[in-house]
Amino acid sequence: MDEIEFMVEEQNIEDISAQLIRDHCLCVQCRDPLSGQRLRSVLELDPELVVTEIEEDEEGGVVTFILSDGHQVELSAETVEDITQELVPLNLRGEGAKVLWDAENAPTESFNWLEISIDNALMYEMLDQILTFGFAVVENLPTRDRAVLDLIKSFGYPRVTNYGDIFEVRIENDPNNLAFTNLPISPHTDNPYRDPVPTLQLLHCLETNVAGGNSGLVDGFRAAIVLRENDPESFDVLSNRLFHFEYLNPTTHLTNTAPIIKVDSMEEIVEIRWNDRSMQPPYNDVDIEEVYDALRAFAVIVNDPANMHEFRLEPGHCVIFDNTRLLHSRTGFESSGKRHLQGAYADLDSLISKWSILEDTLDS
Ligand SMILES: [Fe+2]
Ligand SMILES: [Zn+2]
Repeated sequence: MDEIEFMVEEQNIEDISAQLIRDHCLCVQCRDPLSGQRLRSVLELDPELVVTEIEEDEEGGVVTFILSDGHQVELSAETVEDITQELVPLNLRGEGAKVLWDAENAPTESFNWLEISIDNALMYEMLDQILTFGFAVVENLPTRDRAVLDLIKSFGYPRVTNYGDIFEVRIENDPNNLAFTNLPISPHTDNPYRDPVPTLQLLHCLETNVAGGNSGLVDGFRAAIVLRENDPESFDVLSNRLFHFEYLNPTTHLTNTAPIIKVDSMEEIVEIRWNDRSMQPPYNDVDIEEVYDALRAFAVIVNDPANMHEFRLEPGHCVIFDNTRLLHSRTGFESSGKRHLQGAYADLDSLISKWSILEDTLDS
């Protein structure tokens, strides 16, 4: 995966903004040499700044810009080329950085905990699959209480919530969540009522001897793209309108208001929130019928079996997925048998950090 995308055509060196050149200066007055952090604020940048002279050294490796405030900025020819190409950083969370999939072409290979925990190249491959496809299945994670946290700690940090650092998914007598019953659960993202939502979820199977209880994953970005292509009005409703999500029990009251499909300033899909159980009725207004049409149109796509990758978590299997992109589901199962998963949340920022550091280490 490339970290940089070329968005705009090349510019002439004479046309580069003097303020931008000054902002790139790495001299000791402008940047702390140890941390690389900027020592000046934008208020110290002269809005009238111009370039008075440009000099190139003989080998063409360094370009010196002399600015109207008297500052000299030396930049490598490489940096100058980057600036003239107006590179826009690729948003690793956005649709442009993803490989989309449906039931036919979802990745089916698993990773082995005994290998990824000692082999950086395999760990990198697993993290890369989570970033590009949205999920990975890890096998041979010991069926021990809280082992899911060992997997999280190999690339990041657990996200502790009111459920604790882990949560149990098994049949409970007094379930406060449908997950703790044997009922089927339709495709959804977890905890849309949190701000921010947990960006990663893990489900580790400790025990199962029931018929049914299969796991399903749906690529929510692909579902949103299908909606954008076939029914742009509904896409606009789900991406422009705010929906209200809520969770309430005697000790916890969580609420958040957000679009179902979040689009960034580059018009890229960056986040999906979809949960029948915790979404509140939409606020009333003149086009409320269109809102329900839009919700139905998206529900049809996400519930289409052709879009769902169905698989079975066996004891020792753990699925890790991007909770801001993928929807997960479970088929119903007989209530007499035993099925016990331990779940936990974590976050993509530390996963991306580990992925990036491993990429640099493996490259060198
Ligand atoms: Fe869930
Ligand atoms: Zn400087």
